[in-house]
Amino acid sequence: MASSTALISDTEAWKDLKGHVEDIKKTHLRDLMTDANRCQSMMMEFDGLLLDYSRQRATVETVDKLLNLAKAAQLTEKISRMFNGEHINSTENRSVLHVALRAPKDAVIKADGKNVVPEVWNVLDKIKEFSEKIRSGSWVGATGKPLKDVIAIGIGGSFLGPLFVHTALQTDPEALESAKGRQLRFLANIDPVDVARNINGLNPETTLVVVVSKTFTTAETMLNARTLREWITAALGASAVAKHMVAVSTNLALVEKFGIDPNNAFAFWDWVGGRYSVCSAVGVLPLSLQYGFSVVEKFLKGASSIDQHFQSTPIEKNIPVLLGLLSVWNVSFLGYPARAILPYSQALEKFAPHIQQVSMESNGKGVSIDGLPLPFETGEIDFGEPGTNGQHSFYQLIHQGRVIPCDFIGIVKSQQPVYLKGEVVSNHDELMSNFFAQPDALAYGKTPEQLQKENVSENLIPHKTFSGNRPSLSLLLPELTAYNVGQLLAIYEHRVAVQGFVWGINSFDQWGVELGKVLATHVRKQLHSSRTQGTTLEGFNYSTTTLLKRYLE
Ligand code: F6P
Repeated sequence: MASSTALISDTEAWKDLKGHVEDIKKTHLRDLMTDANRCQSMMMEFDGLLLDYSRQRATVETVDKLLNLAKAAQLTEKISRMFNGEHINSTENRSVLHVALRAPKDAVIKADGKNVVPEVWNVLDKIKEFSEKIRSGSWVGATGKPLKDVIAIGIGGSFLGPLFVHTALQTDPEALESAKGRQLRFLANIDPVDVARNINGLNPETTLVVVVSKTFTTAETMLNARTLREWITAALGASAVAKHMVAVSTNLALVEKFGIDPNNAFAFWDWVGGRYSVCSAVGVLPLSLQYGFSVVEKFLKGASSIDQHFQSTPIEKNIPVLLGLLSVWNVSFLGYPARAILPYSQALEKFAPHIQQVSMESNGKGVSIDGLPLPFETGEIDFGEPGTNGQHSFYQLIHQGRVIPCDFIGIVKSQQPVYLKGEVVSNHDELMSNFFAQPDALAYGKTPEQLQKENVSENLIPHKTFSGNRPSLSLLLPELTAYNVGQLLAIYEHRVAVQGFVWGINSFDQWGVELGKVLATHVRKQLHSSRTQGTTLEGFNYSTTTLLKRYLE
């Protein structure tokens, strides 16, 4: 781009792609898929992973033009600026260094001139020591019993990532073995029902509560923390907090003010965005308590492997870069507003909700990083469910209704294989048959001519026709070990960053969540004074006043 305030849509590369869309609209995936050379060029392998993006509505020429767009957006330079710790989150004047959280001990990654890797490893070593004490029973609760259950309180980025990884590891044989006799639960919602569900069946005597909040001010988390502090102290006395509550935060002063000993707090840093914090103590502490630090270390190594690939691989072979560019293509040029994340793995059932935050909170922006209104849409609506459950829910719309680019994620070797006598294939093969079939069903569709040949009655032909030409990509992982889970996480984190870098937005702030929080504070105050002093509601419009009155009645 010529100047830092230019919009990417003003570049020749963008305009070139705009013109190219008209060529692509004349193609059908049914035809594009006949070109084996094209398909071969759209396969990418790295560290055991295989990406196939041949079912995108793109030709080799499209990919070249997207790579030109990446150059026009100075993508490589922006990636370097991120790894170099520059303050690329300009509206908050912060570095963006979640990659440092999983860097090897001897790496050097600087924020404001200081190598942050030793600090990262100080916290990791502290987590290792603490989690071993809890797991071995050398740290006991107020009544001398080992703490076998953990409730992690947190919301948004302080919840969704750790929940995704926990769910993915829960059935991994190695992790399963090391988690024997232990429970990890997550309390996120302010809804008292979530509190009830979390403490149901647990004994405060054997429970450790981890309060996870970057700011230590988030209303939901702090109220839930006070509620569980009450649950513990009511049963075990005020001094029990020291043994039963620990914290993860960047704000250690507020942790202490809350009543948690700062020695029992695990720090992270303002250069870690909430939604990018799963590799900090936010995720590493609860997961190490459940599975042991050595399992979690493998997860960090998997993420680090992708970080190195992302940092050093030329853009035409760089998996997160290619994925990000294709998403830009789908959103900004082909006009598809959504993306479905479809893991053929029940263990990845919390992956889409996590990526939903990573992607939508990062790229749901209306202005450029320089504050200029954008003449194009950014971000996409991310949603998803594991296959095959999704097939029996929303795939109808994906096949015959709206066009939604799909990410199919498959695993070669099952965590929990089952072979039933007399069945044609194993249960995992059955699952994966769907993983392989769905992308072709979307791409090829079914024509009226094909239906006629099958003697389908004329009146049903329109209903049974599939237009096809619906884009997807397939990502095949060898297994779902902790290492592979780390790889998957980092691929998606970086893909989102690539999209933001190309669109020229700030993917690392989230001002859009503030307004609702401010208005809720106003409501909270009025609810309180109305209930306690009988004051009349003030400052609300007719509709909100009516709803509030009904609620207060
Ligand atoms: O929803 C807004 C948000 O700030 C997220 O970005 C963040 O992940 C979440 O709230 C929780 O914040 P904290 O970790 O500070 O409690």
